[in-house]
Amino acid sequence: MKRAFPLFFLLGFGLVGGCIEKPELLRGERLSALEEKGRTVFMREPCTSCHVLTIALANVEVPRGFAPNLRKTAARSRDWYRAYFVDSRAVLPWSPMPFFGYLSDDEIDALIAFLNRLNKDAPARPAVAGEKVPQISRNPKTYLAAQSLYQTYCIGCHGELGNGGGRVGHILSPEPRDFTDALWLSKQTESYLYSVVTDGKPNTAMPPFRDILSSQERALVLNYVQYFADPVAKERMELGELQGIPR
Ligand code: HEC
Ligand code: HEC
Repeated sequence: MKRAFPLFFLLGFGLVGGCIEKPELLRGERLSALEEKGRTVFMREPCTSCHVLTIALANVEVPRGFAPNLRKTAARSRDWYRAYFVDSRAVLPWSPMPFFGYLSDDEIDALIAFLNRLNKDAPARPAVAGEKVPQISRNPKTYLAAQSLYQTYCIGCHGELGNGGGRVGHILSPEPRDFTDALWLSKQTESYLYSVVTDGKPNTAMPPFRDILSSQERALVLNYVQYFADPVAKERMELGELQGIPR
């Protein structure tokens, strides 16, 4: 991971050089038995080799791509964390987090309790109310641009066919929405769907994309999602691109 390299280097250097002490996480705070078990897993696994600095320096703001301060990341659902430990790049395509799927279910639950404890004071980001949905024209060019966004950011959960069959889809509860369900889609307003892509869906693993995709990109990828319920239009777009139909 190119972007993440300098911090890891610094960290390794800091730890080896002895100038950064591993902090005793949450010293003086009473942890529940489960949180305490999670802390033990966190200290035993290599988590601290990347996350220690940002936890030690509670106020540090780190750009995306660097190991984030786990006291400051907003709350995530339990199944989001689960999926992330089993297959981080199905959830966040650029994540350098290693595979932790070998942890037992009990250990993962304890780790999640500990993570929830760490970020319990992190402010929840208020939802953006009534943001205007950018209008996207439907043609093979926007279709392809949107497809590439979908295949980068959504496919790990929602799957190539849009039916929820992505790599971590089955880990989630509720499972990702089946976009091929035309009846369901016909009952949703565009502004509702756009607000979900922007702010995520509470109590599910559906994450917010506000800080990851521009408003234009969120509208674009949503446009692509809508094609799953209309296979004829979808095929026409794909053929149109192949045949070079004027845009
Ligand atoms: C190789 C370095 C590395 C290791 C080891 C590592 N992480 Fe991470 N972790 C990262 C980076 C970098 C990100 C940020 C990905 C992004 O959003 O760009 C991250 C993100 C996270 C997040 C997501 C925060 C959020 O809500 O967006 C959690 C939770 C997390 N790590 C927990 C852990 C735990 C628990 C362990 C040990 C079991 C661990 N990490 C081990 C580098 C690492
Ligand atoms: C970490 C897994 C995950 C990722 C990544 C993800 N989703 Fe979701 N998505 C979900 C889950 C889980 C639901 C909720 C299903 C439910 O409530 O039944 C959902 C629901 C939705 C919904 C419907 C809202 C509703 O009421 O069900 C839309 C639209 C959506 N996602 C779009 C996207 C788009 C676009 C992307 C990529 C930019 C994306 N999702 C990435 C897991 C994910």
